[in-house]
Amino acid sequence: AYIVAEACIKCKYTDCVDVCPVDCFREGPNFLVIDPDECIDCTLCVAECPAEAIYAEDDLPEDQRHFIALNAELAKLWKPIVEKKDAPADADEWRNVKDKLRLLER
Ligand code: SF4
Ligand code: F3S
Repeated sequence: AYIVAEACIKCKYTDCVDVCPVDCFREGPNFLVIDPDECIDCTLCVAECPAEAIYAEDDLPEDQRHFIALNAELAKLWKPIVEKKDAPADADEWRNVKDKLRLLER
């Protein structure tokens, strides 16, 4: 499956959602995840994300491997999002910030 990683936190541009053919994105307060049981590995979402937050599972940077389990866990808790919506007003300011995991809201 494809995995949403740290760069999405507090950016949440949601461009990814519009291209997914199987509607497998799930939405939390300030982050999206991909339901790994639904993703068909089409790759379309990767290029859409302005924050470059989406990776093939095998391509995840070593220090973000824990996002595999986090996507699986949160996909069970969060509801589907199937249409793009406005990003947070300060999304661009958070785009290149590192270590955002502690800011993740559930
Ligand atoms: Fe959806 Fe394709 Fe991205 Fe998987 S790789 S989340 S199926 S757009
Ligand atoms: Fe997040 Fe990128 Fe989608 S910032 S909401 S993965 S377009």
